Amino acid sequence: MTEIQAAPAPTMPRIGDPAPAFTASTTQGEITFPADYAGRWVILFSHPADFTPVCTTEFMTFASLEDKFADMNTALVGLSVDGLYSHIAWLRTIKERIRFRDMSDVEVTFPLIDDISMTVARLYGMIMPGEDSTKAVRAVFIIDPKGIIRTIIYYPLSTGRNFDELLRVVTALQTADAFSVATPADWRPGEPVIVPPAGSCGTAKDRMAGHEEGVTCIDWFFCTKEISEEQIAEAIRVP
Ligand code: BEZ
Repeated sequence: MTEIQAAPAPTMPRIGDPAPAFTASTTQGEITFPADYAGRWVILFSHPADFTPVCTTEFMTFASLEDKFADMNTALVGLSVDGLYSHIAWLRTIKERIRFRDMSDVEVTFPLIDDISMTVARLYGMIMPGEDSTKAVRAVFIIDPKGIIRTIIYYPLSTGRNFDELLRVVTALQTADAFSVATPADWRPGEPVIVPPAGSCGTAKDRMAGHEEGVTCIDWFFCTKEISEEQIAEAIRVP
């Protein structure tokens, strides 16, 4: 009888897991992750390689949105499996030479991790051997102020990320936490949010009868309420 032996599956963190801890050299000095970011949201993202065009457009876009993310109490940390000198030379070239859309003279001031050993990329499951065994794919981990992974998004090497979506997901997570709600398909701040289903028959009946202030129910499981953009902005303001 042939014995089938499965190779051990590579471990990958999942939504709801604590962000795996590491210490790394970056273009902004050493970081201890996620401890250095306690109390802040963080987007930890990987890119395949320095001096590649799609990554260059992504870095310029991340850098141009850094203040907007900071206003949402969200820090940026990049990673590729290149070394520090390559990172520094690439970021200098971006600043001195590259124009993309209306961006030029862009200075990247958030940390870019040196992961030439691939230690962090492997720890976070950023290497997808079927796509490329020596480069990290475009992974995005959104980690909350308690160090818990709340969102994981992967893009292939050929496709640059959608930054409207990254901003939208951070806003949606922060809104969900602040108001104990969920957000529907394609939600944008200012649109109605979903009120989680009632826990008891009594509450469901009250909701359906319109007794819960501000809550509109189309069916017992489908209730929404309005939260204004101003309420959201106030709730997610940097403490
Ligand atoms: C790029 O960023 O342009 C890129 C990187 C790896 C493979 C393909 C494109």
